[in-house]
Amino acid sequence: MSIALPTFAEFPVLAGREVCYLDSAATSQTPVVVLEAMDAYYREYRASVHRGVYPLAAEATQAYEQARERIAALVGSTAGETVLTRNATEAINLVAYSWGSANVSAGDLIVLTEMEHHSNLVPWQMLSQRTGAELAFVPIDDDGLLELDVLDELLARKPKLVAVTHVSNVLATINPVADIVVRAHAAGAKVLIDGSQAVPHLPVDVRALDADFYAWTGHKAYGPTGIGVLNAKREVLEAMPPFLGGGSMISRVELHQSRYAEPPARFEAGTSAIAEGIGLGVACDLLRDIGMEAVRDHGREIVAYAIVRLSEVPGLALHGPADASLRAPLCSFSLEGVHPHDVAEILGRDGVCVRAGHHCAQPLMRRLGVSATSRASFALHSTRDDIDRLVSGLHNVRDIFAL
Ligand SMILES: Cc1ncc(COP(=O)(O)O)c(C=O)c1O
Repeated sequence: MSIALPTFAEFPVLAGREVCYLDSAATSQTPVVVLEAMDAYYREYRASVHRGVYPLAAEATQAYEQARERIAALVGSTAGETVLTRNATEAINLVAYSWGSANVSAGDLIVLTEMEHHSNLVPWQMLSQRTGAELAFVPIDDDGLLELDVLDELLARKPKLVAVTHVSNVLATINPVADIVVRAHAAGAKVLIDGSQAVPHLPVDVRALDADFYAWTGHKAYGPTGIGVLNAKREVLEAMPPFLGGGSMISRVELHQSRYAEPPARFEAGTSAIAEGIGLGVACDLLRDIGMEAVRDHGREIVAYAIVRLSEVPGLALHGPADASLRAPLCSFSLEGVHPHDVAEILGRDGVCVRAGHHCAQPLMRRLGVSATSRASFALHSTRDDIDRLVSGLHNVRDIFAL
């Protein structure tokens, strides 16, 4: 049985404030149930996990490992294939270092796209600098869609890896990742999908996708900061050397060498982000209780309304696909004659919070011919009223600039 979408009243930062929060693609607000779960850990059963044998430690370990199962369940994975990291950036770096060092060498090809967040670009640049591997990029067309015929040309060169975002944090484009995985596997390549902007908004089933690696981040999916996820195929993880060394990731340590633990522990050196893991587990349950189909329907409806209302603002150019069914619930735009930072600053005076900047996607900004954009992004609590406030704020911006 599904539950209703939470309203702003269930997000303490929003409740009782005149804030219209349209920056959930940067970080989502935290629902009260998530805060309560983390608070309960600190107040009622705080102890380290995986170590102590006394009841408090056992309780903490059980809560943390149950959270891993809940996190895995949201994306159709299993606990044994779910590595908990600090964020998506660390998850992708883990793959680039561990899998990359063992499998990529000089002359190998890694295929990325023009729309990647720096998190899914810089780690591959670093791998390429370490190994001499080549990077190649799938371009986007003027609607913000990947040019898949170029992907096919690059796949003919038998790359080692294709790393692609599921949803663009600038264009909102939902990429056809299932199709990309099929094409890449047929060419013998592994696939890493950056799901940071997808998991909060779309039904995701990593098993059905057949992705080798699926990286995402907790704080955009109604969880706390400091916790991210790498879902990966068990056999791929088992063949990978560790990323960071230290406590918890070993089975036996000698003075000169060690035997490493099985995954996922092998990739989780040091004390875990325990409260954060527990909090993310509750956020994932919340999303599953609402039902990801219902979450997607709401997001599609909100972004469709936003596209229509934003088109009424003279001089506003929306980036990314015009078709709401191809978009996640976010809108990046340029307002002719006004710098995006001025747009965000003036909207902010009226409590409308949008992001302005390059959104950690500088190569994509260059492709779009801009240095920055404004971005309004939506969440479970977003309503048509929020978009109406945004649009009237944009008319106000135009008035201030006498446009
Ligand atoms: C598409 C995409 N990938 C990766 C990230 C990085 O997330 P984190 O900073 O939590 O690692 C972001 C965050 O903005 C993102 O939008």
